[in-house]
Amino acid sequence: MRQPLVVGNWKMQGSLAGVEALLGDLVSATPAAGVEVVVCPTYVHLAQAVSLCRFSSLTLGAQDCSHVQSGAYTGEVSPAMLAEIGCRWVILGHSERRQYQGESDVLIAAKLMSAAEAGLRPIVCVGETREQREAGAAQAVVSTQLEEALKGRANLAQLVLAYEPVWAIGTGLTATPEQAQQMHAFMRVCLADIANVDSAATRILYGGSVKPDNAAQLFAQPDIDGALVGGAALVAADFLAIINAAAA
Ligand code: 13P
Repeated sequence: MRQPLVVGNWKMQGSLAGVEALLGDLVSATPAAGVEVVVCPTYVHLAQAVSLCRFSSLTLGAQDCSHVQSGAYTGEVSPAMLAEIGCRWVILGHSERRQYQGESDVLIAAKLMSAAEAGLRPIVCVGETREQREAGAAQAVVSTQLEEALKGRANLAQLVLAYEPVWAIGTGLTATPEQAQQMHAFMRVCLADIANVDSAATRILYGGSVKPDNAAQLFAQPDIDGALVGGAALVAADFLAIINAAAA
């Protein structure tokens, strides 16, 4: 059985006081049984967040990492550094990084290897744009992204995938449960084909305007194993409601 996983991606948001307040609310809530919960603040808030969560079941993730462990890479943060401060997860290949930082599938594959080497659990994001979906190319785009990132890689036992259709991120437009299920099932087939992993045991998250009022329908789909939540993860009551929907 795949344990439900709910991940909050805070993106470039938060402040010392805000992180303390939000994590305070999350940590003091009764944890939903059986759901794994991860929060991904900015790099600068990670150490503070690790400390605030040390007696809770919440674990921390980063939103990105370097493709190498150390060296002359100004502005980068290595997976080894993240692991050392108590960060356990890392989001890789988020569409905002593909779009604004020009991240390629090749770079994402290198980051994946370097994250695995440091013992971080990778959450690899894939997803098509609206234009690609309208052109009937959604599956082709997603399978190429998966193949470029995963083909021939070892060390993928901890891998988590996230399907995040770009047109659904921050737009309030969610993929319907049927659209999401169809893509998740397709991704599971691709995964079995291209990577040396147990695809039936690999968790695939949905991301893109997940809210308390649509989470349950998404989680009811057989191949949706949880969510990668943006905006709603910044409001404790909303994030907790999504976690509870994953437990139901
Ligand atoms: P929203 O939930 O704000 O649409 O963001 C989704 C996302 O990008 C999570 O990584």
